[in-house]
Order: sequence, then structure tokens, then C-alpha cells
Amino acid sequence: MAKELVYGNICSEEAIRLEETYGAHNYHPLPVVIAKGKGAKVWDPEGNEYYDFLSAYSAVNQGHCHPKIIDALIEQAKTLTLTSRAFFNNKLGEYEKYITEYFGYEMMLPMNTGAEAVETAIKLSRKWGYEIKGIKQNEAIIIVAENNFHGRTLAIISASTDPVAYKNFGPFLPGIIKIPYNDPDALEKVMNKYQKRVCAFMVEPIQGEAGVNVPDEDYLKNCYNICRKYNALLVADEVQTGIARTGRLLCSEFSGIKPDIVILGKAISGGVLPVSAVLSSREIMMVIKPGEHGSTFGGFPLACAVAKAALEIIKEENLIEKAEKLGIIFRDELEKIDSPLIEKIRGKGLLNAILIKPTNGIEAWDVCLKLKENGLLAKPTHDHIIRFAPPLVITENELMECIEIIRKTFAEIN
Ligand SMILES: Cc1ncc(COP(=O)(O)O)c(C=O)c1O
Repeated sequence: MAKELVYGNICSEEAIRLEETYGAHNYHPLPVVIAKGKGAKVWDPEGNEYYDFLSAYSAVNQGHCHPKIIDALIEQAKTLTLTSRAFFNNKLGEYEKYITEYFGYEMMLPMNTGAEAVETAIKLSRKWGYEIKGIKQNEAIIIVAENNFHGRTLAIISASTDPVAYKNFGPFLPGIIKIPYNDPDALEKVMNKYQKRVCAFMVEPIQGEAGVNVPDEDYLKNCYNICRKYNALLVADEVQTGIARTGRLLCSEFSGIKPDIVILGKAISGGVLPVSAVLSSREIMMVIKPGEHGSTFGGFPLACAVAKAALEIIKEENLIEKAEKLGIIFRDELEKIDSPLIEKIRGKGLLNAILIKPTNGIEAWDVCLKLKENGLLAKPTHDHIIRFAPPLVITENELMECIEIIRKTFAEIN
């Protein structure tokens, strides 16, 4: 007999069938359908409850459907949603002032998705390279790190070292050099070789998609100093690590440096709208002139109202301190789990991962299926890594409950 529906009018089985039939197969989701979300929890159409340990890849730091963000959304939606940038609007300037002061930068450029913000940072870096540094036309080089994840556009996958991301999508964007991550010597070497041509080094302070790859403590600082030495920009892609996720407002704060360009996305809106931003100095930002870059939706009034509310919550609810404190508890408790499947636990704040030692053919995917059965949703990144990134509003009690689920899962799967 069909199970009674609690949320919505489509059962899980039918929702999966529809997606598989009518949608491109560009994702491989865990077989669970989410119909409702609140705080750190989500529910499927049949009413089964789960803890969300992905947070839409760290976009839902403020928790699902945070009432303050939803109120801001509704209020603004009733007044004005989109104007394009052909005209000024009464929300954008106020938001730009707020977000630049919030992160300590002079100017910002609003976009929608993380990938668009990365593209913006690439264009900005190149233009700065030509107009301020004096790089010869079409000679600019951007250095990136191997195993990066900066998004899915053509420029960005040209910088990827993951064949799944780039294979059969060529030809690729020239002017990109890839060096090993966590290797300042490699950066120095390339900078030295191409000094006059390098406009920027773009890097994630922690590589999220690569499996929460945490570099040495002094890595970013060393990179920053090398960039200073060769007059190149340090571009920090904080789309996943930024906005309190790692126990700092920006993860680069751990290194005591201020990147020349910061890329933000995801949690700027608390997962409510696609909102992204590039932050930088006036000197760098002003190389882009009217008509040279933009997006119809970038900086739309609805996004401005939502993003301002979402950023306010980070401070009002002390989510930076919370991510740091709960992260320590989480890693300490995971370390106590005695399982031959667990090879390593790593992370910062509430961006963590367990590396799985494939045993008896069991991979991260199998562990995630079992976690789901036990009421916790996490997604493998690569075959042997499970990322754990709950909404930062999760309470300590809820976190302890989740640790119990993880412990139970590893005990059952051995
Ligand atoms: C570090 C980083 N940069 C950029 C992106 C791309 O963001 P979006 O998926 O919004 O385009 C992501 C997405 O996961 C990311 O983790």
C-alpha cells in the first residue's frame, strides 16, 4: 500500500522518476527526496526526518528557511524584485555599503552564482594585469592549484585538473597554469618564470570539493607574500569556506592575510537565492568600466534584501563562534569512533570530512546510504571521502545526536 504523504503531493518514488525522466543526468543524487527544511533538519514527502549534513554545499549556513531571511524575501518581493542595472535601485547601494564594511573591503561587484563570481574575478584580475601591472596584450597568466573546484563554466573548467569536469568540453581557455596545492615553492617557481605575465594566483583557502583538503597553516600567508613579491593578486575563492563555515568570517583570516580579491557565493543568501559577490579594493575594482561586465540579475533588489538579512544573522546568532566550537567537538567525537573504515578525519569549523579506507568493497557512497537510513544526509566527494557540513545553526544537542548516528552507522557497516 502506498505510504501517506505528509509534505507536498508527490511521493519520493515519483519525484525521483520525474527527475530521471525529464531532467539531464548531470548529477547523481543520493536516493532521497527533500520536501521540507527547517534549521538543520529536512523531511521527505513521507515525513521521514533527516539531519542535513551537506547544507547545499555550505549554502545553508543559516539553516533552512530561516524566518528572518524569508520575511525579508517576502517583504521585498511585494515591493520590487528586479530592475536590472539600467537604473539605480534603492536597495543595491545600501547592501553594497553593508557587505563591503562587513568584510572590510572598499568595493564589491554583485553576481548570482559562485561560478559567475569566479569568472568575474578572473576578468578583473586580467584587466588589472593589463591596465595596472602593464602585462602585454593577451599574455596574462592566472595560476591555480591542482584539484581545485571553482565551478562549471568553460573558463573555470579550463583551470580544472579533474577529467570528469573537463573531458570533451574543450577547447579550453589559455593563460592558466596549474601548480600543486599546498606548495608555495611551486608558486614561487612559476611566478619567477613568468613574472611579468602573472596577474593572479587564485586559490581556495581549504579545497572543499577536493575533500576538505586543509593546507599547512602558513600556506596562504606564504602565497600572499609571493604574490606581493611578484606584484600579482591573491584571489581567494571563499565560495564554500567563507561566511562563518570554518569558524572565521573568512577562512583566510586564519592566515592573518587579506586577499586582494575575495569571491563569495552560497551562504550570502542563506540558500534562499543565488547571490554571489566579488570584493576588492577601489583601485582594482575601478578597472572595470560601464558596459564591460555585468548580469541582468546581479545585485537585484530581492537579492540585496535577502543577502543583508542573511549576513546579519551570522553576527546576531554568533555563528562564527558556534562553527569553531562545534567543529572542535565534532572532530574530537569522530576521532573516538573505532572503525577500520575510517582512515582520517580533517576539517576546520563545521567543514569536515571523513576519509574512508575502502574495506570489503565498501565505499563512501555505501556509508552515505546507511547514514541516510539512520537519519543523516551527507554526500561523498570522490569515492572515498564524506564531507560533513551541517547548517551552522545546529545546536550542540543536535550535533551530539548526529555524532551518535555516525557512530552507529560505522558500527553497523563494519
Ligand atoms: C570553492 C567554490 N567555488 C565556486 C563554486 C561554484 O559555485 P556555484 O555552484 O554557485 O556556481 C563552488 C561550488 O561548489 C565552490 O565550492
